[in-house]
Amino acid sequence: MAERAKVAVLISGRGSNMAALLYASRLPDCPFEIALVASNDPDAPGLALAEAEGVPIFALNHKGVPRAQFEAILDREIRAAGANYVALAGYMRLLSPEFVARWQGRILNIHPSLLPKYRGLDPHDQTLAAGDTVAGCTVHIVTDDLDDGPILGRIEVAVLPSDTRETLSARTLIAEHQLYARCLADFVSREASPEWILDQIRQRALALPEAEEKSSHGSPGFRVKGGKFFAYFSYDHHHDGVTGLIVKTSGVEEQAMLIDAEPDLYYRPAYLGPSGWIGIRVDQGEIDWEHIGRWLRKSWSEVAPRKLQALAEFLG
Ligand code: GAR
Repeated sequence: MAERAKVAVLISGRGSNMAALLYASRLPDCPFEIALVASNDPDAPGLALAEAEGVPIFALNHKGVPRAQFEAILDREIRAAGANYVALAGYMRLLSPEFVARWQGRILNIHPSLLPKYRGLDPHDQTLAAGDTVAGCTVHIVTDDLDDGPILGRIEVAVLPSDTRETLSARTLIAEHQLYARCLADFVSREASPEWILDQIRQRALALPEAEEKSSHGSPGFRVKGGKFFAYFSYDHHHDGVTGLIVKTSGVEEQAMLIDAEPDLYYRPAYLGPSGWIGIRVDQGEIDWEHIGRWLRKSWSEVAPRKLQALAEFLG
């Protein structure tokens, strides 16, 4: 199996969702492992469990520590543990936009309601007060707004006429434990899926001025409308087993330098290689999307007409 994604789980209390993730990670073929359990409360019961299970833990009481400083320490610990994802599991502190930006698209959260309904505190009380017959839970990607962000999965839970806040939350918790592990596994796996990678490339390529998608010799390609290509997506082309983005360098010298400097990342593509194009592998684990974005822009500049370039520069 490919290297597993490393997840830092942040908790503030009981940690039953953390435990669900941890035990799911111990099943064969689970695509993630728990690299760290961290808490803003040193007495959080979940910490003791994680420790007993041999998972590295970190705790720092947030009281009296300025938010920026607290988050800088947390960030450092998460990175030191080698984590590349963060899963919030009953973490009851707001994260600043700066922290969220540093982990953009890599922080997940679970919330015990069918979002977008009942964000924030006491969703079960709100469900019961509203007389809803269906409650549930949601896993989503964390953005700057509380309990908001793209939804990755939800499970509906029936509300019984006899339900109290306690019985409803206990039953919802069972659903949460199923949902979180599944959503996290799917989420970390998608980075290995060529469709998802192509979609990420597509979004960035088509954001460039006058760009359009056009398939070329069976590969998805991107070009300036009606003009020259600036990128191709290569997936196991000619059965080479490589997934890569092919972009234009300034010429074979730059191409050779890059391959020499980073032979695991860059390669000389068949056919387009002699004209100074370069392949960037996107099948080697974590992808640096900013880097990919810069390459697409640079390659676009190599082929875009002068006038368009001047316009793009003007527009920033
Ligand atoms: C869970 O129900 C989780 O969905 C909720 O806190 C509980 C933590 O339980 N999270 C939120 O309300 C986030 N807004 P746990 O510590 O046993 O996982």
